[in-house]
Amino acid sequence: MRIDKIAMATGHEKIETNIGLMAALILALVCVGGLVQIVPLFFQHSTTEPVAGLKPYTALELVGRDVYIREGCYVCHSQMIRPFRAETERYGHYSVAGEFVYDHPFQWGSKRTGPDLARVGGRYSNEWHVAHLLNPRDVVPESIMPAYPWFAERPADPGDIRYRMQVLRRLGLPYTDAEIDAAPAQLAGKSEMDAMVAYLQILGTSIKTRR
Ligand code: HEC
Repeated sequence: MRIDKIAMATGHEKIETNIGLMAALILALVCVGGLVQIVPLFFQHSTTEPVAGLKPYTALELVGRDVYIREGCYVCHSQMIRPFRAETERYGHYSVAGEFVYDHPFQWGSKRTGPDLARVGGRYSNEWHVAHLLNPRDVVPESIMPAYPWFAERPADPGDIRYRMQVLRRLGLPYTDAEIDAAPAQLAGKSEMDAMVAYLQILGTSIKTRR
């Protein structure tokens, strides 16, 4: 049989000459393909269970994380190391899904004006971070990162921390009542700088990856 005869016999020609039908079938195919890729992730332990060393954020770390979001640090910094040689050589072990189970919302991002921060925890001293946030150029002369001097002056706001921890508990973070009740006291006398440094220092430390 000739090729064009086969095409007609199998209905192929109908599809190839009808753009509406072809678009609908392509859409159906992409949907099925997408579901096959995505749905299993909801049921795999490696993507839904926290990694062994993952702890929920302390009250202070949580305030630091909120300041991170408020200040838009994510505009210049991603928090996800991709599984490529160039990335793992520079930043350490690639990120795994189980590290982010307690992140609501996650801070993965893709814009890297500055370096990825997924494993910055423990890389520098607290003093380095304070100096860097007060004026990045004091420690990295060529830095284009903005300075955040107000972190040192503003208190870590205990405001609604208990409610926010309750909401996070609903989303799956295993806080106890005692931890939630103790949260405001843990923020007493702390500045936003303390909170930010506490947050930066735990990033990426839940799995042992340092080379
Ligand atoms: C305009 C883009 C920009 C913004 C906004 C920004 N940064 Fe940066 N950041 C950079 C650049 C560029 C560097 C690399 C130079 C340096 O170390 O200062 C950097 C470096 C860093 C480093 C050191 C990382 C490493 O591995 O050496 C940390 C930590 C950091 N930034 C935290 C923050 C935090 C926290 C915020 C929000 C309060 C923030 N950055 C906002 C651009 C930015």
